[in-house]
Amino acid sequence: MQTPVTDYLTEILHDCGADNPGANAAYIPELANADSDRLGVCVSTIDGVVYGAGDTDLPFSIQSISKAFVYALAIDEHGLDYVLRSVGVEPSGEAFNELSLEKGSGRPLNPMINAGALTTHSLIGGPADSPTERFEKVHRGLSAFAGRNLEVDEAVYRSELSEAYRNRAIANMLRSYDVFTVDPLQIVEGYTRQCSINVTLRDLALMGATFANGGVQPVTGEQVVAPSVVRQVLSVMMTCGMYDAAGDWMSNVGFPAKSGVAGGILGVLPGQVGIATLSPRLDEHGNSLRGVRLCDRMSRDMGMHIMEGAEPARAVVRRDRVLRSPRGGTIRVCSLQGAIQFSGAERVLRLLADDHDKHEQLVLDLRRVSSLNDVAQRMLAEGMRRFALDGIGIVLVDPERFMTDLSSAGEPTVLRDLGDLRSLARLS
Ligand code: DON
Repeated sequence: MQTPVTDYLTEILHDCGADNPGANAAYIPELANADSDRLGVCVSTIDGVVYGAGDTDLPFSIQSISKAFVYALAIDEHGLDYVLRSVGVEPSGEAFNELSLEKGSGRPLNPMINAGALTTHSLIGGPADSPTERFEKVHRGLSAFAGRNLEVDEAVYRSELSEAYRNRAIANMLRSYDVFTVDPLQIVEGYTRQCSINVTLRDLALMGATFANGGVQPVTGEQVVAPSVVRQVLSVMMTCGMYDAAGDWMSNVGFPAKSGVAGGILGVLPGQVGIATLSPRLDEHGNSLRGVRLCDRMSRDMGMHIMEGAEPARAVVRRDRVLRSPRGGTIRVCSLQGAIQFSGAERVLRLLADDHDKHEQLVLDLRRVSSLNDVAQRMLAEGMRRFALDGIGIVLVDPERFMTDLSSAGEPTVLRDLGDLRSLARLS
């Protein structure tokens, strides 16, 4: 069977690509002259299957999309507190290349605008690192996200550097306010090289899937950055990634994204997919016009807006039965299912609290559970502890060992299978 996903991507490419308004980035000669008819889309699952249509394997420079990955690398290397001392997290509402600093703190407002991105570039490596060592760390990091060794487009690099008056002005401003203390021209060179790293849509979708997969590259299996880093980066992409169009993007498309002036857009749907689109003509904010259309269309067709995401928590209780024990008392068997988070655990505990003291034994059956996050584990453990204090025997059926810490759970009997329910009474 030919998967319908590829057919769907081909169809939306056709629909969203019909006309091609906007203009290539004019301020970088190589990009101004790039073929503006290029058009493509890729979606990568978190297990590394990439679906695509159109120009999926043509290299193009990553440009500002690199900002998200270098922000991730800086936090992974130094910790969030250290990075926050130099770069804020507030949307600027200004153009990406504005000369601006946050009032009061004197930091760049966020790492997605150029002032912030020049600063995060400067944070990579220690102060003793040479510009070459710093760039090599950036290059290695971006390559790890892609799962292959990426190359620099030297023509784009030279072209952008020859006209980088604005970025030099921003870097000089940052240096003059001591936001960083290294040579500003070296930072502009390193940052421009970072922006000139070539990717294909296939690469970019996998890089996005690495974020979607909690920092683990789906193909190589490498933990490139920690899950807590991913959370921070995606939050800032959500609020600042599309510059002064971030509010529009949030309400219409609704997944974290980052655009680049070569026409790429990276999207991430946490826990699900990485998304990449390419079309070089930009709108007035510097975002790819047909790329925005494609993302908007995918979000609507496939329910990708993160505000529509979660399953109602009531679905977590699959079955709740009361059985008679051989001793004449009753055993309550509560079977759970799906992904259980705070609201799911709250629902389970509320249900179990209801007439719990009537039963001599409680069986908590996790065989159909697909995941149990940290807070849900702690809540269920605390619930078990309280039932045990009330003298109720607890049996936990947890073949996948979702409950990683039972030290405070009132010493339940742990089984790998439910087995013969009638024999359970003998356990108490
Ligand atoms: O700093 C610059 O001007 C470029 N190298 C990157 C800017 C960019 O991609 C803005 N995004 N849409």
